[in-house]
Amino acid sequence: MSLSRVFSGIQPSGDVQLGNYLGAIKGWVDRQDEKDNFFCIVDLHALTVYQDPNNLNHQIKSLAAILFAAGLDPAKCSVFIQSHVKEHSELCWLLNCITPIGWLERMTQYKDKSSGQESVSTGLLDYPVLMASDILLYDAVEVPVGDDQKQHVELARDICQRFNNIYGDTFALPEPVIPNIGARVMGFDNPLIKMSKSYSHIRGHAIRIIDTEDEILRTVKRAVTDSGNEIKFSDNPDNAGVNNLLGIYKVITGESTKDVESNFINSRGYGDLKIKVAEVIIEELQPIRKRYRDLMENPDHLDKLLSEGAEKARSLAEKKMEIVKNKIGLVSR
Ligand code: AMP
Ligand code: TRP
Repeated sequence: MSLSRVFSGIQPSGDVQLGNYLGAIKGWVDRQDEKDNFFCIVDLHALTVYQDPNNLNHQIKSLAAILFAAGLDPAKCSVFIQSHVKEHSELCWLLNCITPIGWLERMTQYKDKSSGQESVSTGLLDYPVLMASDILLYDAVEVPVGDDQKQHVELARDICQRFNNIYGDTFALPEPVIPNIGARVMGFDNPLIKMSKSYSHIRGHAIRIIDTEDEILRTVKRAVTDSGNEIKFSDNPDNAGVNNLLGIYKVITGESTKDVESNFINSRGYGDLKIKVAEVIIEELQPIRKRYRDLMENPDHLDKLLSEGAEKARSLAEKKMEIVKNKIGLVSR
């Protein structure tokens, strides 16, 4: 039986943070044996907002090193850079031609990012069509994403169905796969907003995957909580900070809600909770940090891993583009 194909992407913009790891990367690593996996560093998506060229170059390599360091195994998945497989851009153009602008203007992320701006790039509006191309090019059926990206995967489904209706069955219909635990890690400085790479430079907001033990401990100790002392999951909005800390603990340890709470029954307040949470985070991230540094010191090896990943992706992408062009009526070379 063939394994079902999984595609996901991550942008090389900002430092990879704990939310990216727990909400996305960790799940990819845990399930890599069961699936046919494609994980893409979506550098072209990052360009929808200005990136400093030197910084972008470093971020792309650093993200690649983090993905391998976190445990993605090149024997089990193709990890590659989006711009290394030119078919992503090519398919994007073809899909642009069947995608109504109204579908794109409705996207929540577009509305958020464009509101109040004097001028926005065409790329920002077109972002979900490039994302649909990433997915459809490989006939991926499962697309693991955080809940903020669900709407874009649904749009990819709409584009898929529209193309198949116009030109006949061509692309497999993708499904978003949303992790139910750890779907949202919140900021340590403000537990009401999602932890984000874009704010990872703000003191106390995020833990970066490559932070030192000291940095991790300092950030968690400073995490915003309410003035109570009960350590339990609760729907009370005041409990958001504690929920976030317990949620992180839960995802990393894999314990049930009840077991997580029972660890803290005799705790002496939030100080204790923070130390225990920092400890599990440190234990989880330190081996990754070490492997990350080894890879960054060995750029030839990293390049080799990435070029092998792109090679595997390209062999599928080229075949698919031939089929697509044929269906549309373009003339083969
Ligand atoms: P981004 O940082 O927006 O490129 O996101 C890369 C992946 O990480 C996507 O699947 C996101 O949904 C996921 N992700 C980003 N931030 C968080 C967060 N705070 N909690 C959970 N998942 C996240
Ligand atoms: N837009 C996604 C994000 O910001 C990244 C992404 C690009 C992606 N292409 C994709 C995710 C294809 C899943 C599938 O998180």
